[in-house]
Amino acid sequence: MIKQVCVIGAGTMGSGIALVAAQTAFEVILCDMNPAVIDAAKQGIVKNLDFLLSKNKIDVAEKDLIWKRISFTSAIQNCKADIVIEAIVERLDVKADLLTQLAAINSTETILASNTSSLSINALQENIPLPGRVAGLHFFNPAHIMKLVEVVKGSLTDDTTTQALMDFCRQVNKTPVLCKDAPGFIVNRVARHYYLEAMQLVENNHASVANVDAAMEAAGFKMGPFKLMDLIGMDVNLAVSTSLYEAFDKAERFKPSALQIDKVARNELGRKTGKGFYNYDA
Ligand code: NAI
Repeated sequence: MIKQVCVIGAGTMGSGIALVAAQTAFEVILCDMNPAVIDAAKQGIVKNLDFLLSKNKIDVAEKDLIWKRISFTSAIQNCKADIVIEAIVERLDVKADLLTQLAAINSTETILASNTSSLSINALQENIPLPGRVAGLHFFNPAHIMKLVEVVKGSLTDDTTTQALMDFCRQVNKTPVLCKDAPGFIVNRVARHYYLEAMQLVENNHASVANVDAAMEAAGFKMGPFKLMDLIGMDVNLAVSTSLYEAFDKAERFKPSALQIDKVARNELGRKTGKGFYNYDA
């Protein structure tokens, strides 16, 4: 039974996941190695709670209660819980190293979940003692709003682990969808072309960024591909493109766009750096 949740990485995704869990009565530890990110996460969470308050979705007492359920830390030694969800940088070596550390300090019952967008859960399970407790738990951005969570079953993941994660998602008012470990899982595989084709149109001078977004939104998509990439973060989106490209033996259809490579090189990562395809006020 999951009571205490730990989220590692307090960036775009981790801070949202921590809020989701705290709103539904879980005790949450939110960890980031960078104290500046923790400060920003605190501000972001308070801002979201104030918004809910202004809309009468919660009252002052509830706001206080939710806030008090979250504790913040920069030390991995404090990351002990019934479920630990990592939402750190999208790199296999860094995530694998973190999972190894977490396995060493947590109980054998602890579920170790990864919010990876595209890395192989099977690869993450390698060398982790009791890999049956490792699975993917892929929230979508913004995590406190988007309903979908992909629960990803690696080849060694126990059924009890996936079942506990499906139950957990429902407890935090999300809609879990179970899938096996395959490159890009479901959404990132299907949606890859939403981004890549859009960037190709712009690279070939067939349409502008604003016109592609306007067309797709008028066609019924909630957000145009360029606005969505700015929300996701160009670095994260490039990492996912690269990971799918590699996983499909460099198939041309998954080839990262020169446009996104250039954006990352310029540190124009989208909303989080104030500039991506569009400019954002600080
Ligand atoms: P981010 O760059 O906003 O945040 C990552 C945070 O992890 C940073 O604050 C960094 O300081 C921290 N970090 C890195 N290594 C650490 C370590 N060893 N210990 C503690 N903290 C560490 O990244 P974002 O966008 O939140 O992505 C995180 C994960 O979620 C990635 O795996 C990404 O693929 C996935 N994801 C991202 C989505 C998005 O739209 N941005 C959507 C769904 C999943």
